[in-house]
Amino acid sequence: MSAQFKTNFKKVTSPLIEGVGTQEGPVARELMAKDSLPLSEAMKSKGNYMPDPKPIAFSRYISREFAALEREKVWDKSWQFVCREEEVPKVGDRYTYDVGTASYFVVRSATNEFKAFFNFCRHRGNRLSYENSRGSSIRCRFHGWEWNLDGSIKHLPHDWDFPHVDKKDYGLVECKIGTWGGFIFINPDPEAGPLEKALGVLPQHFAHWQPEQRFVALHARKLVHANWKLVAEAFFESYHAPIAHPQSSPFAADCQVQYDIWDDGDSHISRLIGPTAIPSGTAPASATAEEAVMMVAGFLVGNQSEAERKASLEQLKGKGRVGLAALRREQLQQQYGREFNLSDVEMIDSIQYFMFPNFFPWMGEFLPLVYQFLPYGDDPEMCMAHTRLLLPLPAAGRPPAAKPQDIGPDETFEAIKVWADIGIVFDQDYINLPDIQKGLRAAAGSDQAYATLARYQESRISHFHETLDKKIYG
Ligand SMILES: [Fe+2]
Repeated sequence: MSAQFKTNFKKVTSPLIEGVGTQEGPVARELMAKDSLPLSEAMKSKGNYMPDPKPIAFSRYISREFAALEREKVWDKSWQFVCREEEVPKVGDRYTYDVGTASYFVVRSATNEFKAFFNFCRHRGNRLSYENSRGSSIRCRFHGWEWNLDGSIKHLPHDWDFPHVDKKDYGLVECKIGTWGGFIFINPDPEAGPLEKALGVLPQHFAHWQPEQRFVALHARKLVHANWKLVAEAFFESYHAPIAHPQSSPFAADCQVQYDIWDDGDSHISRLIGPTAIPSGTAPASATAEEAVMMVAGFLVGNQSEAERKASLEQLKGKGRVGLAALRREQLQQQYGREFNLSDVEMIDSIQYFMFPNFFPWMGEFLPLVYQFLPYGDDPEMCMAHTRLLLPLPAAGRPPAAKPQDIGPDETFEAIKVWADIGIVFDQDYINLPDIQKGLRAAAGSDQAYATLARYQESRISHFHETLDKKIYG
């Protein structure tokens, strides 16, 4: 879609500025240099690519033609995150994955084997898998055609009436599937290369964190009145934090966040490292690092009795981020009965990765989330936003994965108490999205209907659109 607008972008020649820190709140890299434990390879590494900002046409968030191109060139051809292995725990269990107008399902076809199929009946096209579908065979609700879990046909009712059908040609249509770290991915393109190529640096960066030794402890599914890309973009950057989340400025960095991008043509990965327990550069000058540590500690000891809480906070005085990370290690050790030896940054900061187009695994013990933003049906102005919390496995063994909880477009995370303080932050993000979508529509008649992105803080959004452009236009 060629953009019909005038831009005033200047040519950039000045060196890239990678965040701006303060005395009390330095940038992420400076904080990592003071870590009390050795940094993992992941935390030591820096991205290998930084795009120049380009105008992003608002039309790509509204247009049905663009959404159809995305289906054809992106969703039908990319390795994409579907679900976790523990969400299909028993042989015969299924996970139905709807992405825009496309639909697939993953089935556990044997104890340690998964298969993925296009979600339609070979007879007359009916959907075959629904939420919570399970059982030893896959049966259509229309005329009862039935398949084995490996996709081979099991029963064709009144087969005397199908002399023209060779049953061996009537298996379910299979889709490429791959797993890594307990995550399940599919690629509907039979010509697709291996999943490993799309994962890029992820397996290497996450190896020590062992995502396979975790489980989905919470799963929210929120329908949002906004394009899927718009929702994803709200979580790529911290530039919005001082305005959208003003309560977090005294203890969470925004302009000190580190952004990294890795792109080798096959894998399109980006990351942010957002320090906590320091004041944001946008906080009032009176904000101190000591107060910031105490505020984050306040969240961590929130479940303790008043006396215990006071004692923990007292003990922490003057010990800074290093003390806070030690407190977090101690808490986890008590809870799980084993040692947690991650560096300070991995214990207390926000570390969020992204693999194009829909996989946002977080790393570390502060906020181990997984986001997944999906187009919804044929409406480019609707998105299904999945948020999973991925906790370490308890010593007692693997608990069942949490069932998804639906949060309607006008409902809040706060109302579902389990998401606690982070729920309020999500609500602050989601409340803006329908209005952004409306604003994009409002701009449509002008010759300025494009986004003007920040060079560094919104570089992941630039990279996201560059990747999209490469997939769609070659
Ligand atoms: Fe936010």
